[in-house]
Amino acid sequence: MSEAEGKLGVLIVGLNGAVSTTFLAGVFSVRKGLASPVGSITQMGTIRIGKRSENNFPLIKDFVPLADLNDLVFGGWDIRNENCYESALSAGVLRTEHANQVKDELQQLRPMKGVFEQHYVKRLKGEWVKEGAGKYEKMMMLREDIKNFKKKNNLKRLVMIWCASTEIYIPVNGGHNSLEKFEEAIRSNHPDISPSMLYAYAAILEGVPFINGAPNLSCDLPALINFAKEKNVPIAGKDFKTGQTLVKTVIAPMLKAKMLGLRGWFSNNILGNRDGEVLDDPESFKTKEESKLSVLDSILQPELYPQLYSDYYHKVRINYYPPRGDDKEGWDNIDIFGWMNYPMQIKIDFLCKDSILAAPLVLDLILFIDLAQRIGMSGIQDWLSFFFKSPIHEENQVPEHDLFIQQMKMKNTLRKIMKVEPVSHIDYDPELITDTQNI
Ligand SMILES: NC(=O)c1ccc[n+]([C@@H]2O[C@H](COP(=O)([O-])OP(=O)(O)OC[C@H]3O[C@@H](n4cnc5c(N)ncnc54)[C@H](O)[C@@H]3O)[C@@H](O)[C@H]2O)c1
Repeated sequence: MSEAEGKLGVLIVGLNGAVSTTFLAGVFSVRKGLASPVGSITQMGTIRIGKRSENNFPLIKDFVPLADLNDLVFGGWDIRNENCYESALSAGVLRTEHANQVKDELQQLRPMKGVFEQHYVKRLKGEWVKEGAGKYEKMMMLREDIKNFKKKNNLKRLVMIWCASTEIYIPVNGGHNSLEKFEEAIRSNHPDISPSMLYAYAAILEGVPFINGAPNLSCDLPALINFAKEKNVPIAGKDFKTGQTLVKTVIAPMLKAKMLGLRGWFSNNILGNRDGEVLDDPESFKTKEESKLSVLDSILQPELYPQLYSDYYHKVRINYYPPRGDDKEGWDNIDIFGWMNYPMQIKIDFLCKDSILAAPLVLDLILFIDLAQRIGMSGIQDWLSFFFKSPIHEENQVPEHDLFIQQMKMKNTLRKIMKVEPVSHIDYDPELITDTQNI
């Protein structure tokens, strides 16, 4: 397979947010040899090739031809007119000395005017927005931005990623079902069409792969899923799996693997960054809640194990608490039961840094979806579900939430791409079964 040649443009929606600026500062620091890309699967992960006895574990980035970090060119949109250095400092994730190491690179990055309506993110005001036109015209302006960015920077390929604020909950309905209806809804400025859908549509129309890091629908609509396939554009989403849900999708498979029952799971969070403020609005929180609640049932399969999982109580709370900034604290209280129904409890207290966890996912998703595009994979990139809380899936398909199944799926897809045998983890040679009479 050929190497990734030329420059790759990375267009970030929400360029000045905490996740974006932490990601950017990290990439610039890695390029300068000042930091290591901890948490990044593409940069630090390995992949086993062949039998265990062959002891062949190359780095993923040496096994598959991914774009080089030095070939990434960044740009994007925001609704705040600041350079990324100012935004990185106000996000309060990085220490000033770390932001200062890449001050020049961050200062040079300024957003293009965003497409925004306060109806969709109640807690924010748009100060740097495209004005005086309907949804269709704004979507066309985004297309112009994409074309100009590509031309100005002499780019070979592009990727777009949504790292902007979580929009209010919008269920999939009529206007989202076919491309014709979707276009009609855009042209009539229908409220079911949010800005994130306009970015996604503009990307697909321009043949640019689209990733959605937030829980709002964006490209997760039948109209856009089908259109992406038609246009040969890969899409992936939704909602970066970084903190509490990451832990949930490790603990829940453990309970099921061990046939331990569940009575209740209470997940509580405090966080004080802008994302926390946006999620303090009940309509944005509902979007997040839907995303966070979906994982347990799909992992535990109560329909198969009614005695263990048909009657558990699941609650997720996010509380905005400014003193903590980006330092999120997530508590889980898990009431389980074992042999003869005896009750037990698991307590988890995850003191994390939200954007430090999200930044490496942004990098991995950009590099993987660019790979997908180069080799002609289009539509939903199911193998990237490893990175998401609420993986986009076809209507007739159940999403996979178990982190380790997702990991196996991702690595086997990489093996398949490179035309080597998938790893089944079966070491026993079936030829050695001699007593076939008794099978
Ligand atoms: N661990 C994590 O941090 C994590 C995990 C999962 C999902 N997410 C999601 O990632 C997103 C970013 O998180 P964050 O902490 O960086 O939030 P943030 O509030 O710091 O950044 C969001 C940025 O988006 C901008 N924005 C809002 N609407 C816009 C629009 N229509 N067009 C252009 N820009 C727009 C805002 O001005 C802001 O700069 C959120 O939706 C969050 O829910 C984050």
